[in-house]
Amino acid sequence: MVKVAIVGATGYAGEELLKILIGHPRVEIVSLSAKIDKPQKISQIFPELSGKTDLICEEPDFSKIVPDCDLAFLALPHRVSMEAAPEFLRAGKKVIDLSADYRLKDVSVYEQWYGLKHKNPEYLARAVYGLPEVYREKIKPAQLIANPGCYPTGIILGCLPFLGPSLKRNRKAYPLGLAKGKVSSQNIIVDAKTGLSGAGREKEAALVAEMENNFRAYKVDAHQHAPEVNQELSAFAGERIEITFTPHLIPIQRGILSAIYLQLKKALSQEEAQGLYQDFYKDEPFVKVLPEGKFPQLKDVAKTNFCHIGLKISPAKKIAIVICAIDNLVKGASGQAVQNMNIMCGFEETEGLR
Ligand SMILES: NC(=O)c1ccc[n+]([C@@H]2O[C@H](COP(=O)([O-])OP(=O)(O)OC[C@H]3O[C@@H](n4cnc5c(N)ncnc54)[C@H](OP(=O)(O)O)[C@@H]3O)[C@@H](O)[C@H]2O)c1
Repeated sequence: MVKVAIVGATGYAGEELLKILIGHPRVEIVSLSAKIDKPQKISQIFPELSGKTDLICEEPDFSKIVPDCDLAFLALPHRVSMEAAPEFLRAGKKVIDLSADYRLKDVSVYEQWYGLKHKNPEYLARAVYGLPEVYREKIKPAQLIANPGCYPTGIILGCLPFLGPSLKRNRKAYPLGLAKGKVSSQNIIVDAKTGLSGAGREKEAALVAEMENNFRAYKVDAHQHAPEVNQELSAFAGERIEITFTPHLIPIQRGILSAIYLQLKKALSQEEAQGLYQDFYKDEPFVKVLPEGKFPQLKDVAKTNFCHIGLKISPAKKIAIVICAIDNLVKGASGQAVQNMNIMCGFEETEGLR
């Protein structure tokens, strides 16, 4: 059994974590904390947990939480996470941070996009980007996981097979770089739509009225998740990649659907592309490549840790269109965090997530 603490337990990501971890056979939840006036049963905050847990949620007191746990999930806003993480790290505890505080390797990029000074950049080099499909081997021994952002999770998974080498364990199974040279790594356009929970509980409340019967773009080519995608795709492809990214808000609660447009440099058939994606993800428990002619829909991934991917190759237009769907609160946040915990603790990777 691993003893876990959830800091930020009353937020969207914290609530989702709690619901997953209550059903996880290898986890004992030892602490729940959040910014809260007085200690309160978590089942009073989330009535659907009545009868499932007697845990109390209170203000974080690290002198009590740290000694009691083996691993902490930080489901906190960025800026707050980097104040909490060192408390656990200094004591040798594992940390999975769901915020953006440890995702960007270059501190100046973080400070530019998040508009604040990083408090402990010395931890950035040892933080492992928690995308299991790429970094599984590095996640196993890691002490600090920077859990990926919600948009980046779907976008990166949607682009990977076209941009670089096959995943390590698949290298023998598929010729290296089949798509490399056929699909351009430049001028990648991403048009993504998110449900309102992506903004967090507090901001969502304000958005609900504004977004009723509405649909709009925001932070056009200026969203803070773009540098995260650029960092990871560039590292994977071994060359500088900068996506053009237009996020949109849609009036649903959860889910992200991204349409990614990549330019073909040489002939690539639908069949070849399908084969590449199927092969690339064939051993991945949470990525499903849909058959030719099928495209993902949010209701199929809602409340699951799956990423669904559909492909359309248009040789005449020299374009590849990749559509991917995830639940922002599960594969885009808390489910992926539990997947990372499973890998770090040597559990079955799918434990608690099926
Ligand atoms: N929502 C998503 O789809 C999503 C996806 C991927 C990653 N993330 C990231 O995950 C993190 C949490 O997101 P969220 O959507 O769950 O946000 P949220 O709904 O706003 O929840 C934030 C949580 O942090 C707590 N908190 C805030 N300031 C605190 C402080 N100073 N001390 C202790 N607790 C504090 C809040 O407590 P109170 O409620 O009492 O204020 C709440 O429990 C963020 O960094 C976000 O960027 C979110």
